[in-house]
Amino acid sequence: LRLPSFSLVPKDDNSLLLINSGMAPMKKYFTGEITPPKKRVTTCQKCIRTPDIERVGITARHGTFFEMLGNFSFGDYFKHEATAWAWEFFTKVLEIPEEKLYVSVYEKDDEAYKIWTEEIGVDPSHMVHLGKEDNFWEHGSGPCGPCSEIYYDRGEKYGCGKPECEVGCDCDRYMEIWNNVFTQFDGDGKGNYEELETKNIDTGMGLERLASVVQDVDSIFDVDTIFALRSKVCELANVEYKKDENKDISIRLITDHIRSATFMISDGIMPSNEGRGYVLRRLIRRAARHGRLLGIEGKFLAKLCETVIEGSKDGYPELEEKKDFILKVLTQEEEKFNKTIDQGLAILEDMEKDMQAKGETV
Ligand code: ALA
Repeated sequence: LRLPSFSLVPKDDNSLLLINSGMAPMKKYFTGEITPPKKRVTTCQKCIRTPDIERVGITARHGTFFEMLGNFSFGDYFKHEATAWAWEFFTKVLEIPEEKLYVSVYEKDDEAYKIWTEEIGVDPSHMVHLGKEDNFWEHGSGPCGPCSEIYYDRGEKYGCGKPECEVGCDCDRYMEIWNNVFTQFDGDGKGNYEELETKNIDTGMGLERLASVVQDVDSIFDVDTIFALRSKVCELANVEYKKDENKDISIRLITDHIRSATFMISDGIMPSNEGRGYVLRRLIRRAARHGRLLGIEGKFLAKLCETVIEGSKDGYPELEEKKDFILKVLTQEEEKFNKTIDQGLAILEDMEKDMQAKGETV
């Protein structure tokens, strides 16, 4: 059963500020608290993740907003099928050469390792074991379990060049494109786990990352759908992409943050000083500030927001329905921020003059 994306605002889940994955809105289907409409579900879920916010714009693969393609099994198929189908999808449907793919398994999951090497036939030189931090899916409380990720080797030209560079390295060479979680525990968020009654599957594939592989482009900011938005940023700033790395970072950051902000407001989140409202405020302010760094004068976020809506309204009709509201909220927040910055700069200038008059330099 293909379900539409859930809202970015979690329902009855205080352990998360924002929906960060395909499985997050479906936790109660996994625990059995609510009976899912079908045992096999698939979604394309709008997601926000901010733990890596400082890396957005700097790497080829990080965004605070992304669309996650997910397949879910609630007590239906499990490890053997999910593993085989993931491999079939990449190698047969997308025709990605096997030698470009690497697989990680949780260090204690011998079963998954055996399935990959003995049933699927992945060469052990393309297998890695990773620890809990990388290969155990758990966010907030609720359903969780060991996972197995598939990485795409983008080639040496994207690597850091260090001899120890391999899957799991921070650089842009090995990009995780799919995660298969074997959701078999219910965690309380404090490290205690209970076996779930049913064994489940939660998979997540970043649409933008996948598109960057299939379209063979440098980064998620170069895939066709996002390219239009990135170009609009360049047009408004009157700068060319790929001429100055610092400017490119700002261009990519604005491109990402305006997508997050647009989708968050469409789901009813308002800028504020706490919780998810603060996440939104921070994203808008960072985008506005980087606009200034690029030399954009005056307000510009609403213009970009229109491009986001235009590009995504077919998949997410709520964007078009709430367009006026989204533009208004964004513009008000940008105005407020611009005023704060201008006042701050005026104070700073006064202080500087004062100090100069006194001959002080610190
Ligand atoms: N929930 C898993 C993830 O987001 C699939 O990586």
